[in-house]
Amino acid sequence: MTEHRIGFGEDAHGLVTGRRLLLGGFEIPHSPRGAAAHSDGDALLHALSDALLSAFGMGDIGQYFPPSNPNYAGLDSQVILQTVQERIRDAVGVTEVVNVAAVVTLDRPKLGPHRLEIQRTLAELLGVEAGRVGIGFKTSEGLAPRHVQARVTVLLRYPAP
Ligand code: C5P
Ligand code: MG
Repeated sequence: MTEHRIGFGEDAHGLVTGRRLLLGGFEIPHSPRGAAAHSDGDALLHALSDALLSAFGMGDIGQYFPPSNPNYAGLDSQVILQTVQERIRDAVGVTEVVNVAAVVTLDRPKLGPHRLEIQRTLAELLGVEAGRVGIGFKTSEGLAPRHVQARVTVLLRYPAP
């Protein structure tokens, strides 16, 4: 028997020059600005990791990777995602991602040209086919020009306890 859970997560970072812009493990090429962050600032992976934790009432990534801990400076967000997946496996067993639905809000640069690469990278990190990862892009209509935000919902299937 299996059961299902929905998870939801959100994350935002300021944009500054001289930083990389990573989204879902994919580096947006030639971005004039990237995410200001203690870690590598991948808002999409942070929102996804929070979404996975939320599905099982397991808090959020700040509890596992406190920003105040200097050991986590520049941390690869793929490590955050892997750690979250391991913690969930320990808690509830092997969990299958049914699908992911995400929205990234960013005024510039345009992300549409990279949609497939972001989708494929994220799908590969989760071990699912790309068709199970949907990603939309929105501008803030100029309301938050120095800001990148990601929102992620996820549906999970796991062994019934
Ligand atoms: O937010 P808005 O409705 O103005 O977005 C219009 C279009 O621009 C959408 O099709 C969206 O996919 C695209 N877009 C993009 N890169 C962004 C923001 C929006 O490709 N950074
Ligand atoms: Mg973050």
